[in-house]
Amino acid sequence: NPLQGAQFVLAAHRISQLPADRGAEVAFAGRSNAGKSSALNALTNHKGLARTSKTPGRTQQMVAFGLPPVAVEGQPPLDARLIDLPGYGYAKVPLEMREHWKLEIDAYLHQRRSLRGLVLIVDIRHPLKEFDRMMLAFCFATQLPCHVLLTKADKLSRNQAMQALAALRREFADNSPHATAQIFSSAASTGVDEAREAVMTLLRT
Ligand code: GTP
Ligand code: MG
Repeated sequence: NPLQGAQFVLAAHRISQLPADRGAEVAFAGRSNAGKSSALNALTNHKGLARTSKTPGRTQQMVAFGLPPVAVEGQPPLDARLIDLPGYGYAKVPLEMREHWKLEIDAYLHQRRSLRGLVLIVDIRHPLKEFDRMMLAFCFATQLPCHVLLTKADKLSRNQAMQALAALRREFADNSPHATAQIFSSAASTGVDEAREAVMTLLRT
């Protein structure tokens, strides 16, 4: 597992506090409680790496995790990171905080030069809410690759999960040709290898 060995680097309240903007970075975004931190832990095979919680709005920081250097053909090894972004859209997080993160995430996506792609975490039972569409539209506009993990697939039957994936892909065919998607579950370890591959591909982009 190339994502094994990820280590906490720092937690930032604003982008100016993030690690130096070089090398390659993949960010994990999604609505509050969608399962971003759990997905990060599953991918890095490190249970306690990112803090998870039953309480939505748990991650109120941008958390940077360093990865072992990534080998890229014909280039020196790449300084690589994963970034856990604060969950979005939870009403009980104070309005001021939500506004702060909206601006900060927006600035991060626009300015971060080492950002290679976005992993968008979506609860498979509630596909594409307003925030998700915003992120997809942003990626489309800036040509940033986006890979969607339809997570908590363990909550549905295999058949229902496949239907949700097919519906999402149909939608992408119309509006988001740059986006890819897969079924995922941190709880049942579904789609973990596929997601790792997707992250590595983004980092090497
Ligand atoms: P915030 O940081 O609050 O935005 O949340 P988050 O997106 O990081 O979600 P987190 O990983 O903390 O998970 C939220 C809740 O969903 C926790 O109770 C997790 O145990 C649960 N959860 C996450 N992934 C899965 C999954 O694949 N299956 C199931 N059944 N539950 C999951
Ligand atoms: Mg979190």
